[in-house]
Amino acid sequence: MFIQLEDYLPLETFKRIQAFSEDKETPFLVIDTDTVVRHLDDLTTYFPYASIYYAVKANPAVEILTIMRDKGVNFDIASIYELDRVLSLGISPDRISYGNTIKKSRDVRYFYEKGVRLYATDSEADIRNIAKAAPGSKIYVRILSEGSRTADWPLSRKFGCQPDMAMDLIILAKNLGLVPYGISFHVGSQQRDIGAWDGVLGKVKVIFERLHEEENITLEMINLGGGFPANYLSKANNLYVYAQEITRFLNEGFGEDLPTIILEPGRSVMGNAGVLVSEVVLISRKSRTALNRWVYTDVGKFSGLIETMNEAIKYPIYSGRKGELEEVIIAGPTCDSADILYEDFKYKLPLNLSISDRLYWLSTGAYTSTYSAIEFNGFPPLKTYFI
Ligand SMILES: Cc1ncc(COP(=O)(O)O)c(C=O)c1O
Repeated sequence: MFIQLEDYLPLETFKRIQAFSEDKETPFLVIDTDTVVRHLDDLTTYFPYASIYYAVKANPAVEILTIMRDKGVNFDIASIYELDRVLSLGISPDRISYGNTIKKSRDVRYFYEKGVRLYATDSEADIRNIAKAAPGSKIYVRILSEGSRTADWPLSRKFGCQPDMAMDLIILAKNLGLVPYGISFHVGSQQRDIGAWDGVLGKVKVIFERLHEEENITLEMINLGGGFPANYLSKANNLYVYAQEITRFLNEGFGEDLPTIILEPGRSVMGNAGVLVSEVVLISRKSRTALNRWVYTDVGKFSGLIETMNEAIKYPIYSGRKGELEEVIIAGPTCDSADILYEDFKYKLPLNLSISDRLYWLSTGAYTSTYSAIEFNGFPPLKTYFI
């Protein structure tokens, strides 16, 4: 398919990235920081009532964290390593949430000693750890959510617990001297069904009401997680539509006077800001009569494109060549046959595509640079430039 660049980023931004890239050896990722700021501004405009906790895992580069810091954003953090990096930028611990429900007791203690007082949880053992290692802290319980079939990168099964258990955990937290603060969920990353938020907010409402009526516990916060869209080949609504609908769900459930609302965006802020520049290493056919060519590029599953697993995320790929298109199979450069990016979903690339041509992978700013292996087959990790 011919990619309409303008569907994914302004033409002028692409030209700037292309000019910057010309004399550099591929593969590498270019992040356009103006785009990051624009997406962040859109979020705060469309969700004026919400506090943003940037999901650091989406792209933890210092250049990005500095932008977030200066924009007054808070941070959703997954490990002591992310914590150290964020704190090293002078960010105060009251802007940090330890959002990973899977954590060692000594890591909880480390966060506590650094001053962090907000923790996610979804299990009894973890709450008991938090009560010991981070006494008196605020906790929020993550619940399971539906929507794994409509999210391109589902997260729902591994994290969270059933609402009944969430209520038990909130009560336990209170009894252990913690502050029961709220409920969180994540409807799955790149969630294309906005209704997924409606379903889970209904459960949150029941939890809020029952805890209030039956246990005299008043929760204050709902963490709506991530799941907001970047632009890939599979179409999603734009962020404005998400915001309108989610705000309506919230108002219907909780009235105009909303609890504290937290968002944890990663992909929607970073995805569209990145262009991965690669080169075609080899083009071949497997037999004289084979209908499809194989196009091998110098990026693959092990150099940042792991979200092509099960062909889940379909990045728009741009080639400067014009002309007749042909279906191809796209694979990476390593000696691992898992390193095939798209085979069932047939991308079409120009028939006149040649070895050493450049391919531009659009919307690759989130979950790429850090997924890159450090030395598989000797290939170095994916480089990132910021412009
Ligand atoms: C706890 C948590 N919050 C937020 C995010 C960010 O989600 P997204 O990239 O869909 O915005 C993730 C992603 O894995 C997550 O695990």
